Amino acid sequence: MRITIFGSGYVGLVTGTCLADVGHDVVCVDVDADKIARLNRGEIPIYEPGLDAMIAENRDAGRLRFTTDAEEAVRFGKLQFIAVGTPSDEDGSADLKYVLKVAETIAQYMGEYKVVIDKSTVPVGTADKVRDTLRRTLEARGADIDFDVCSNPEFLKEGAAIEDFSKGARIIVGTDSEAVRKAMRECYAPYNRNHEKLMFMDVRSAELTKYAANAMLATKISFMNEIANLAERLGADIEHVRHGIGSDPRIGYHFIYPGCGYGGSCFPKDVKALAQTATNIGYDAQLLGAVESVNLRQKTRLFEKLNQAFDGDLKGKTIALWGLAFKPNTDDMREAPSRELMEALWDSGARVQAFDPEAAGECRRIYGERDDLVLVDRRDDTLEGADALVICTEWKIFRAIDFDNLRQTLRTPVVVDGRNLFDPEIVKDAGLLYYAIGRGESLNRQQARRAAA
Ligand code: UDX
Repeated sequence: MRITIFGSGYVGLVTGTCLADVGHDVVCVDVDADKIARLNRGEIPIYEPGLDAMIAENRDAGRLRFTTDAEEAVRFGKLQFIAVGTPSDEDGSADLKYVLKVAETIAQYMGEYKVVIDKSTVPVGTADKVRDTLRRTLEARGADIDFDVCSNPEFLKEGAAIEDFSKGARIIVGTDSEAVRKAMRECYAPYNRNHEKLMFMDVRSAELTKYAANAMLATKISFMNEIANLAERLGADIEHVRHGIGSDPRIGYHFIYPGCGYGGSCFPKDVKALAQTATNIGYDAQLLGAVESVNLRQKTRLFEKLNQAFDGDLKGKTIALWGLAFKPNTDDMREAPSRELMEALWDSGARVQAFDPEAAGECRRIYGERDDLVLVDRRDDTLEGADALVICTEWKIFRAIDFDNLRQTLRTPVVVDGRNLFDPEIVKDAGLLYYAIGRGESLNRQQARRAAA
Protein backbone atom coordinates (compact mmCIF):
# COMPACT_ATOMS: atom_id res chain seq x y z
CA MET A 1 0.00 0.00 0.00
CA ARG A 2 1.06 3.60 -0.45
CA ILE A 3 1.31 5.24 2.95
CA THR A 4 2.08 8.80 4.06
CA ILE A 5 3.20 9.59 7.57
CA PHE A 6 3.08 13.15 8.86
CA GLY A 7 5.62 13.79 11.61
CA SER A 8 9.05 12.14 11.75
CA GLY A 9 9.28 12.09 15.52
CA TYR A 10 9.27 8.99 17.62
CA VAL A 11 5.93 7.51 16.66
CA GLY A 12 6.05 8.62 13.02
CA LEU A 13 9.52 7.26 12.35
CA VAL A 14 8.88 3.92 13.98
CA THR A 15 5.49 3.53 12.28
CA GLY A 16 6.82 4.50 8.85
CA THR A 17 9.89 2.31 9.10
CA CYS A 18 8.05 -0.75 10.38
CA LEU A 19 5.36 -0.44 7.69
CA ALA A 20 8.05 -0.11 5.00
CA ASP A 21 9.82 -3.11 6.46
CA VAL A 22 6.85 -5.38 5.71
CA GLY A 23 6.70 -4.16 2.12
CA HIS A 24 4.52 -1.04 2.08
CA ASP A 25 5.66 2.07 0.18
CA VAL A 26 6.07 4.81 2.73
CA VAL A 27 6.73 8.55 2.55
CA CYS A 28 7.52 10.36 5.81
CA VAL A 29 6.94 14.09 5.74
CA ASP A 30 8.01 16.70 8.25
CA VAL A 31 8.09 20.50 8.31
CA ASP A 32 11.57 20.39 9.89
CA ALA A 33 13.82 20.59 6.81
CA ASP A 34 16.93 19.99 8.86
CA LYS A 35 15.52 16.78 10.31
CA ILE A 36 14.53 15.54 6.85
CA ALA A 37 17.97 16.41 5.44
CA ARG A 38 19.59 14.47 8.26
CA LEU A 39 17.30 11.48 7.74
CA ASN A 40 18.18 11.54 4.05
CA ARG A 41 21.85 11.43 5.02
CA GLY A 42 21.13 8.43 7.23
CA GLU A 43 21.30 10.29 10.55
CA ILE A 44 18.57 9.19 12.93
CA PRO A 45 17.31 11.92 15.28
CA ILE A 46 16.28 9.55 18.08
CA TYR A 47 17.97 6.71 19.90
CA GLU A 48 16.03 3.51 19.41
CA PRO A 49 17.79 0.14 19.28
CA GLY A 50 17.62 -1.39 15.79
CA LEU A 51 15.89 1.54 14.14
CA ASP A 52 18.87 3.00 12.27
CA ALA A 53 19.67 -0.28 10.50
CA MET A 54 16.02 -0.79 9.61
CA ILE A 55 15.71 2.74 8.21
CA ALA A 56 18.87 2.30 6.14
CA GLU A 57 17.71 -1.01 4.72
CA ASN A 58 14.28 0.24 3.71
CA ARG A 59 15.58 3.55 2.38
CA ASP A 60 18.11 1.73 0.22
CA ALA A 61 15.35 -0.56 -1.03
CA GLY A 62 13.34 2.51 -2.06
CA ARG A 63 10.37 1.69 0.17
CA LEU A 64 10.98 4.51 2.66
CA ARG A 65 11.45 8.15 1.70
CA PHE A 66 11.73 11.39 3.67
CA THR A 67 10.50 14.70 2.36
CA THR A 68 9.33 18.19 3.29
CA ASP A 69 7.09 18.30 0.19
CA ALA A 70 3.64 18.02 1.76
CA GLU A 71 1.80 18.27 -1.55
CA GLU A 72 3.64 15.31 -3.05
CA ALA A 73 3.25 13.38 0.19
CA VAL A 74 -0.52 13.96 0.36
CA ARG A 75 -0.97 12.83 -3.21
CA PHE A 76 1.18 9.73 -2.57
CA GLY A 77 -0.58 7.78 0.14
CA LYS A 78 -4.08 6.39 0.33
CA LEU A 79 -3.48 6.18 4.06
CA GLN A 80 -2.44 9.45 5.70
CA PHE A 81 -1.14 8.91 9.21
CA ILE A 82 -0.98 11.92 11.52
CA ALA A 83 1.88 11.30 13.95
CA VAL A 84 2.86 14.83 14.95
CA GLY A 85 3.40 16.04 18.49
CA THR A 86 0.65 16.97 20.94
CA PRO A 87 2.49 19.00 23.60
CA SER A 88 0.79 19.93 26.86
CA ASP A 89 -1.02 23.26 27.06
CA GLU A 90 -0.58 25.37 30.20
CA ASP A 91 -3.58 23.60 31.76
CA GLY A 92 -2.23 20.12 30.90
CA SER A 93 -4.61 19.45 28.02
CA ALA A 94 -3.15 18.26 24.72
CA ASP A 95 -2.43 21.05 22.26
CA LEU A 96 -3.89 20.04 18.90
CA LYS A 97 -2.49 22.79 16.73
CA TYR A 98 -0.01 20.55 14.88
CA VAL A 99 -2.58 17.78 14.37
CA LEU A 100 -5.15 20.19 12.94
CA LYS A 101 -2.53 21.89 10.78
CA VAL A 102 -1.78 18.52 9.17
CA ALA A 103 -5.52 17.93 8.60
CA GLU A 104 -5.63 21.28 6.82
CA THR A 105 -2.61 20.38 4.69
CA ILE A 106 -4.13 17.05 3.68
CA ALA A 107 -7.39 18.74 2.64
CA GLN A 108 -5.49 21.41 0.76
CA TYR A 109 -3.73 18.96 -1.55
CA MET A 110 -5.84 15.80 -1.72
CA GLY A 111 -7.26 14.93 -5.12
CA GLU A 112 -9.02 11.66 -4.31
CA TYR A 113 -10.39 9.59 -1.39
CA LYS A 114 -8.04 9.36 1.60
CA VAL A 115 -8.13 7.60 4.93
CA VAL A 116 -6.85 10.04 7.56
CA ILE A 117 -5.54 8.26 10.62
CA ASP A 118 -4.95 9.82 14.04
CA LYS A 119 -1.85 8.03 15.33
CA SER A 120 -0.76 10.68 17.82
CA THR A 121 -2.22 10.38 21.30
CA VAL A 122 -5.14 12.79 21.11
CA PRO A 123 -8.03 13.56 23.43
CA VAL A 124 -11.43 12.02 22.92
CA GLY A 125 -13.26 14.02 20.28
CA THR A 126 -10.16 14.89 18.23
CA ALA A 127 -11.23 12.79 15.24
CA ASP A 128 -14.35 14.98 15.05
CA LYS A 129 -12.17 18.10 15.01
CA VAL A 130 -9.91 16.60 12.33
CA ARG A 131 -12.99 15.74 10.26
CA ASP A 132 -14.37 19.28 10.63
CA THR A 133 -11.03 20.80 9.64
CA LEU A 134 -10.81 18.60 6.55
CA ARG A 135 -14.40 19.39 5.59
CA ARG A 136 -13.97 23.14 6.01
CA THR A 137 -10.72 23.25 4.07
CA LEU A 138 -12.17 21.18 1.24
CA GLU A 139 -15.22 23.43 1.12
CA ALA A 140 -13.02 26.53 0.97
CA ARG A 141 -11.25 24.91 -1.99
CA GLY A 142 -14.61 24.14 -3.57
CA ALA A 143 -13.57 20.49 -3.73
CA ASP A 144 -16.04 17.66 -3.27
CA ILE A 145 -13.79 14.75 -2.32
CA ASP A 146 -14.67 11.89 -0.01
CA PHE A 147 -12.52 10.97 3.01
CA ASP A 148 -12.68 9.07 6.30
CA VAL A 149 -11.06 9.84 9.63
CA CYS A 150 -10.16 7.05 12.05
CA SER A 151 -8.28 6.62 15.30
CA ASN A 152 -5.37 4.15 15.48
CA PRO A 153 -3.48 4.83 18.72
CA GLU A 154 0.08 3.67 19.21
CA PHE A 155 1.20 1.69 22.26
CA LEU A 156 4.92 1.50 21.69
CA LYS A 157 7.48 1.85 24.46
CA GLU A 158 10.72 3.70 23.91
CA GLY A 159 13.63 1.29 23.74
CA ALA A 160 11.37 -1.54 22.55
CA ALA A 161 9.47 0.33 19.87
CA ILE A 162 10.12 -1.99 16.92
CA GLU A 163 9.22 -5.07 18.91
CA ASP A 164 6.10 -3.36 20.28
CA PHE A 165 5.01 -2.23 16.82
CA SER A 166 5.56 -5.64 15.23
CA LYS A 167 4.44 -7.85 18.09
CA GLY A 168 2.09 -5.61 20.05
CA ALA A 169 -0.78 -7.09 22.02
CA ARG A 170 -3.42 -5.35 19.94
CA ILE A 171 -4.07 -3.02 17.03
CA ILE A 172 -6.90 -0.65 17.89
CA VAL A 173 -8.88 1.01 15.13
CA GLY A 174 -11.73 3.37 15.89
CA THR A 175 -14.06 3.83 12.93
CA ASP A 176 -17.62 3.47 11.72
CA SER A 177 -16.63 3.04 8.09
CA GLU A 178 -16.43 -0.24 6.21
CA ALA A 179 -13.91 1.26 3.77
CA VAL A 180 -11.59 2.11 6.67
CA ARG A 181 -11.94 -1.36 8.16
CA LYS A 182 -10.89 -2.86 4.82
CA ALA A 183 -7.97 -0.46 4.34
CA MET A 184 -6.66 -0.95 7.88
CA ARG A 185 -6.95 -4.74 7.56
CA GLU A 186 -4.78 -4.53 4.47
CA CYS A 187 -2.29 -2.18 6.11
CA TYR A 188 -1.82 -4.35 9.19
CA ALA A 189 -2.23 -7.79 7.58
CA PRO A 190 1.51 -8.60 7.97
CA TYR A 191 1.18 -8.14 11.74
CA ASN A 192 -2.09 -9.96 12.04
CA ARG A 193 -1.18 -13.45 10.89
CA ASN A 194 -0.97 -15.68 13.94
CA HIS A 195 -4.00 -14.46 15.77
CA GLU A 196 -6.53 -11.69 15.39
CA LYS A 197 -5.05 -8.54 16.90
CA LEU A 198 -7.18 -5.99 15.14
CA MET A 199 -9.88 -4.57 17.37
CA PHE A 200 -12.42 -2.38 15.68
CA MET A 201 -14.51 -0.05 17.79
CA ASP A 202 -16.12 3.36 17.61
CA VAL A 203 -13.77 6.32 17.33
CA ARG A 204 -14.28 7.72 20.84
CA SER A 205 -13.68 4.35 22.48
CA ALA A 206 -10.42 3.98 20.54
CA GLU A 207 -9.30 7.44 21.58
CA LEU A 208 -10.14 6.74 25.22
CA THR A 209 -8.48 3.29 25.13
CA LYS A 210 -5.07 4.88 24.64
CA TYR A 211 -5.46 7.22 27.60
CA ALA A 212 -6.99 4.53 29.77
CA ALA A 213 -4.06 2.16 29.07
CA ASN A 214 -1.44 4.74 30.01
CA ALA A 215 -3.39 6.03 33.00
CA MET A 216 -3.84 2.46 34.29
CA LEU A 217 -0.11 1.75 33.99
CA ALA A 218 0.75 5.05 35.67
CA THR A 219 -1.72 4.18 38.43
CA LYS A 220 0.04 0.86 39.07
CA ILE A 221 3.34 2.69 39.48
CA SER A 222 1.99 5.43 41.75
CA PHE A 223 0.19 2.81 43.82
CA MET A 224 3.42 0.88 44.33
CA ASN A 225 5.31 4.05 45.17
CA GLU A 226 2.69 4.92 47.74
CA ILE A 227 2.97 1.48 49.33
CA ALA A 228 6.78 1.74 49.17
CA ASN A 229 6.69 4.98 51.14
CA LEU A 230 4.47 3.28 53.68
CA ALA A 231 6.76 0.24 53.81
CA GLU A 232 9.72 2.50 54.51
CA ARG A 233 8.00 4.09 57.46
CA LEU A 234 6.68 0.78 58.75
CA GLY A 235 10.02 -1.02 58.55
CA ALA A 236 8.82 -3.39 55.82
CA ASP A 237 10.54 -4.20 52.53
CA ILE A 238 8.56 -3.27 49.43
CA GLU A 239 10.47 -5.85 47.38
CA HIS A 240 9.01 -8.66 49.50
CA VAL A 241 5.61 -7.01 49.25
CA ARG A 242 5.99 -6.75 45.45
CA HIS A 243 6.72 -10.47 45.17
CA GLY A 244 3.90 -11.24 47.54
CA ILE A 245 1.23 -9.35 45.65
CA GLY A 246 2.56 -10.05 42.15
CA SER A 247 2.01 -13.77 42.64
CA ASP A 248 -1.74 -13.15 42.55
CA PRO A 249 -2.58 -13.47 38.85
CA ARG A 250 -5.22 -10.78 39.28
CA ILE A 251 -2.39 -8.38 40.15
CA GLY A 252 0.56 -9.85 38.24
CA TYR A 253 4.27 -9.03 38.31
CA HIS A 254 4.32 -6.54 35.46
CA PHE A 255 4.68 -2.84 36.01
CA ILE A 256 4.67 -2.91 39.80
CA TYR A 257 8.25 -1.79 40.31
CA PRO A 258 8.54 1.03 42.82
CA GLY A 259 11.07 3.71 41.97
CA CYS A 260 11.79 7.40 41.84
CA GLY A 261 8.68 8.19 39.80
CA TYR A 262 7.58 7.69 36.21
CA GLY A 263 8.78 10.01 33.46
CA GLY A 264 8.93 10.04 29.69
CA SER A 265 6.85 11.61 27.00
CA CYS A 266 3.65 9.67 27.66
CA PHE A 267 2.61 8.92 31.23
CA PRO A 268 2.99 12.39 32.76
CA LYS A 269 1.41 14.10 29.76
CA ASP A 270 -1.39 11.61 29.23
CA VAL A 271 -2.45 11.40 32.88
CA LYS A 272 -2.62 15.20 32.99
CA ALA A 273 -4.49 15.41 29.69
CA LEU A 274 -7.08 12.83 30.75
CA ALA A 275 -7.58 14.64 34.06
CA GLN A 276 -8.04 17.87 32.12
CA THR A 277 -10.54 16.21 29.79
CA ALA A 278 -12.48 15.17 32.89
CA THR A 279 -12.37 18.71 34.27
CA ASN A 280 -13.56 20.10 30.93
CA ILE A 281 -16.70 17.98 31.08
CA GLY A 282 -17.33 18.77 34.74
CA TYR A 283 -16.21 15.43 36.20
CA ASP A 284 -13.93 15.35 39.21
CA ALA A 285 -11.48 12.53 38.34
CA GLN A 286 -10.00 12.11 41.81
CA LEU A 287 -7.87 9.06 41.15
CA LEU A 288 -6.11 10.62 38.16
CA GLY A 289 -5.20 13.70 40.19
CA ALA A 290 -3.79 11.48 42.93
CA VAL A 291 -1.75 9.39 40.48
CA GLU A 292 -0.08 12.54 39.28
CA SER A 293 0.53 14.11 42.67
CA VAL A 294 1.95 10.87 44.10
CA ASN A 295 4.33 10.79 41.15
CA LEU A 296 5.41 14.40 41.58
CA ARG A 297 6.15 13.74 45.23
CA GLN A 298 8.03 10.54 44.39
CA LYS A 299 10.40 12.44 42.15
CA THR A 300 11.51 14.49 45.16
CA ARG A 301 12.29 11.42 47.26
CA LEU A 302 15.89 10.93 46.10
CA PHE A 303 16.81 14.47 47.04
CA GLU A 304 15.05 14.13 50.40
CA LYS A 305 16.98 10.97 51.17
CA LEU A 306 20.30 12.59 50.27
CA ASN A 307 19.45 15.71 52.17
CA GLN A 308 18.60 13.66 55.24
CA ALA A 309 21.75 11.59 54.89
CA PHE A 310 23.80 14.81 54.96
CA ASP A 311 21.70 16.39 57.70
CA GLY A 312 20.38 19.07 55.36
CA ASP A 313 23.81 20.33 54.33
CA LEU A 314 24.61 19.53 50.73
CA LYS A 315 26.43 22.75 49.98
CA GLY A 316 29.78 22.04 48.34
CA LYS A 317 29.10 18.30 48.16
CA THR A 318 29.79 16.35 44.96
CA ILE A 319 27.15 13.80 44.06
CA ALA A 320 27.84 10.95 41.63
CA LEU A 321 24.75 10.30 39.53
CA TRP A 322 24.17 7.13 37.54
CA GLY A 323 21.46 7.40 34.90
CA LEU A 324 19.94 10.52 33.38
CA ALA A 325 17.39 9.04 30.97
CA PHE A 326 13.87 8.48 32.30
CA LYS A 327 14.40 4.74 31.79
CA PRO A 328 17.07 2.47 30.25
CA ASN A 329 17.63 2.03 26.50
CA THR A 330 16.69 5.55 25.58
CA ASP A 331 18.37 8.96 25.57
CA ASP A 332 15.07 10.63 26.45
CA MET A 333 15.16 12.87 29.53
CA ARG A 334 11.63 14.24 29.28
CA GLU A 335 10.16 14.40 32.80
CA ALA A 336 13.06 12.24 34.02
CA PRO A 337 13.45 11.95 37.82
CA SER A 338 17.17 12.78 37.34
CA ARG A 339 16.19 16.32 36.38
CA GLU A 340 14.22 16.96 39.54
CA LEU A 341 17.15 15.63 41.55
CA MET A 342 19.88 17.60 39.77
CA GLU A 343 17.94 20.85 39.95
CA ALA A 344 17.32 20.39 43.67
CA LEU A 345 20.99 19.56 44.24
CA TRP A 346 22.13 22.65 42.36
CA ASP A 347 19.69 24.78 44.35
CA SER A 348 21.30 23.56 47.53
CA GLY A 349 24.82 24.23 46.31
CA ALA A 350 25.90 20.69 45.41
CA ARG A 351 27.76 19.59 42.26
CA VAL A 352 26.75 16.65 40.07
CA GLN A 353 29.08 14.20 38.31
CA ALA A 354 26.86 12.16 36.03
CA PHE A 355 27.11 9.20 33.71
CA ASP A 356 24.49 7.83 31.33
CA PRO A 357 25.22 5.39 28.49
CA GLU A 358 23.11 7.41 26.03
CA ALA A 359 21.67 10.60 27.47
CA ALA A 360 24.76 12.78 28.05
CA GLY A 361 24.20 14.69 24.80
CA GLU A 362 20.57 15.29 25.66
CA CYS A 363 21.59 16.48 29.14
CA ARG A 364 24.06 18.94 27.59
CA ARG A 365 21.35 20.17 25.24
CA ILE A 366 18.95 20.80 28.15
CA TYR A 367 21.32 22.32 30.71
CA GLY A 368 24.25 23.58 28.63
CA GLU A 369 27.68 24.07 30.17
CA ARG A 370 27.61 24.73 33.89
CA ASP A 371 30.20 24.58 36.64
CA ASP A 372 28.10 22.34 38.86
CA LEU A 373 27.58 19.63 36.24
CA VAL A 374 30.26 17.29 34.95
CA LEU A 375 29.29 14.60 32.45
CA VAL A 376 31.75 11.73 32.26
CA ASP A 377 32.16 8.88 29.78
CA ARG A 378 32.60 6.03 32.20
CA ARG A 379 30.45 4.91 35.10
CA ASP A 380 33.22 4.83 37.70
CA ASP A 381 34.66 8.22 36.72
CA THR A 382 31.63 9.73 38.46
CA LEU A 383 32.98 8.47 41.77
CA GLU A 384 36.23 10.46 41.72
CA GLY A 385 35.99 12.86 44.66
CA ALA A 386 32.27 12.18 45.08
CA ASP A 387 30.60 12.36 48.49
CA ALA A 388 27.71 10.02 47.64
CA LEU A 389 26.23 7.97 44.81
CA VAL A 390 22.65 8.20 43.53
CA ILE A 391 21.10 5.87 40.94
CA CYS A 392 18.22 7.24 38.89
CA THR A 393 17.98 4.79 35.97
CA GLU A 394 18.29 0.99 36.00
CA TRP A 395 20.71 0.60 33.06
CA LYS A 396 22.18 -2.90 32.94
CA ILE A 397 25.70 -1.58 33.51
CA PHE A 398 24.71 -0.40 37.01
CA ARG A 399 23.70 -3.80 38.29
CA ALA A 400 26.98 -5.50 39.17
CA ILE A 401 29.04 -3.35 41.51
CA ASP A 402 32.24 -3.86 43.47
CA PHE A 403 30.85 -2.51 46.73
CA ASP A 404 34.18 -2.64 48.57
CA ASN A 405 35.70 -0.44 45.90
CA LEU A 406 32.69 1.85 46.07
CA ARG A 407 33.10 2.11 49.84
CA GLN A 408 36.76 3.05 49.44
CA THR A 409 36.17 5.60 46.69
CA LEU A 410 33.23 7.55 48.07
CA ARG A 411 34.07 10.25 50.60
CA THR A 412 31.02 9.29 52.65
CA PRO A 413 29.55 5.81 52.32
CA VAL A 414 26.12 6.95 51.10
CA VAL A 415 24.32 5.13 48.25
CA VAL A 416 20.82 6.29 47.29
CA ASP A 417 19.20 3.82 44.93
CA GLY A 418 16.06 5.02 43.13
CA ARG A 419 15.54 1.64 41.44
CA ASN A 420 16.15 -0.94 44.18
CA LEU A 421 18.92 -2.66 42.24
CA PHE A 422 20.81 -4.29 45.09
CA ASP A 423 20.42 -6.65 47.99
CA PRO A 424 20.48 -4.32 51.02
CA GLU A 425 22.35 -6.87 53.13
CA ILE A 426 25.25 -7.07 50.67
CA VAL A 427 25.53 -3.31 50.34
CA LYS A 428 25.42 -2.84 54.09
CA ASP A 429 27.97 -5.61 54.67
CA ALA A 430 30.39 -3.61 52.54
CA GLY A 431 30.03 -0.78 55.05
CA LEU A 432 27.83 1.42 52.92
CA LEU A 433 24.70 3.26 54.05
CA TYR A 434 22.05 2.15 51.59
CA TYR A 435 18.95 4.23 51.01
CA ALA A 436 16.60 2.55 48.55
CA ILE A 437 12.89 2.96 47.83
CA GLY A 438 10.65 1.46 50.48
CA ARG A 439 13.02 -1.23 51.55
CA GLY A 440 14.54 -3.00 54.44
CA GLU A 441 15.74 -0.76 57.10
CA SER A 442 14.07 2.55 56.61
CA LEU A 443 15.96 5.79 56.61
CA ASN A 444 14.49 6.69 59.98
CA ARG A 445 15.67 3.47 61.53
CA GLN A 446 19.15 3.85 60.06
CA GLN A 447 19.33 7.33 61.47
CA ALA A 448 18.07 6.17 64.84
CA ARG A 449 20.76 3.48 64.85
CA ARG A 450 23.45 5.99 63.95
CA ALA A 451 22.25 8.33 66.65
CA ALA A 452 22.27 5.49 69.20
CA ALA A 453 25.81 4.51 68.12
C1 UDX B 1 4.70 4.12 27.88
C2 UDX B 1 3.77 2.90 27.66
O1 UDX B 1 4.37 1.74 28.24
C3 UDX B 1 3.51 2.71 26.19
O2 UDX B 1 2.61 1.63 26.01
C4 UDX B 1 2.92 4.00 25.64
O3 UDX B 1 2.68 3.89 24.26
C5 UDX B 1 3.85 5.17 25.90
O4 UDX B 1 4.11 5.27 27.29
P1 UDX B 1 7.31 4.62 27.71
O5 UDX B 1 6.98 6.00 28.19
O6 UDX B 1 8.25 4.47 26.57
O7 UDX B 1 5.97 3.86 27.29
O8 UDX B 1 7.98 3.86 28.94
P2 UDX B 1 7.63 2.67 29.96
O9 UDX B 1 8.62 1.58 29.73
O10 UDX B 1 6.22 2.31 29.94
O11 UDX B 1 8.01 3.38 31.35
C6 UDX B 1 7.38 4.57 31.75
C7 UDX B 1 7.89 5.05 33.09
O12 UDX B 1 7.39 4.23 34.14
C8 UDX B 1 9.40 5.04 33.25
O13 UDX B 1 9.79 6.24 33.89
C9 UDX B 1 9.68 3.84 34.13
O14 UDX B 1 10.85 3.98 34.88
C10 UDX B 1 8.44 3.83 35.00
N1 UDX B 1 8.12 2.50 35.55
C11 UDX B 1 7.69 1.51 34.74
C12 UDX B 1 8.18 2.29 36.93
O15 UDX B 1 8.55 3.18 37.70
N2 UDX B 1 7.80 1.08 37.42
C13 UDX B 1 7.37 0.06 36.63
O16 UDX B 1 7.04 -1.01 37.17
C14 UDX B 1 7.33 0.28 35.24
